[in-house]
Amino acid sequence: MRRGESEESIDRTALINHLIEKKHYRDYLEIGVQNSKNNFNKVIVPHKEGVDPNVDCTYRMTSDEFFKTIPKDKKYDIIFIDGLHIPGIKEIQKGTIEPRLI
Ligand SMILES: C[S@@+](CC[C@H](N)C(=O)[O-])C[C@H]1O[C@@H](n2cnc3c(N)ncnc32)[C@H](O)[C@@H]1O
Repeated sequence: MRRGESEESIDRTALINHLIEKKHYRDYLEIGVQNSKNNFNKVIVPHKEGVDPNVDCTYRMTSDEFFKTIPKDKKYDIIFIDGLHIPGIKEIQKGTIEPRLI
C-alpha cells in the first residue's frame, strides 16, 4: 500500500466510469495521462481525449498549451485533472473549463 492510501481508497477509474454512466456523459478529457493502461484506456465513454507533454496521446503538450489551442467554446462533460495540478486549477478559476470532476 502506498503512502496516503487506505483499504478504502477510491478507485479513480471506477468513480469516473460511474459518473459517466450515471450522468450519460459523452466527452471525457484527461489532463496528465502517463501510462494509458492504468486509467485512460479503461474509461468507457463515446469520446475521450488526453493531454500530456511526455506521452504519445491525443494532445502531446502541456495543459497550458492545450487550453491556448482549443476553441473558447469547447466543452467536455467530465475532466480528470491529474497532470501538473496548478495550470488546471488556474483554468477553472478563469472559467475556461467548467469542472464536474476533479
Ligand atoms: C500522476 S501522472 C497521471 C496518471 C494518470 N492520470 C492515471 O490516472 O494513471 C501525471 C502526468 O502528468 C503529466 N504532466 C506533467 N505536467 C503536465 C502539464 N503541465 N500538463 C499536462 N500533463 C502534465 C506527466 O507527464 C505525467 O504523465
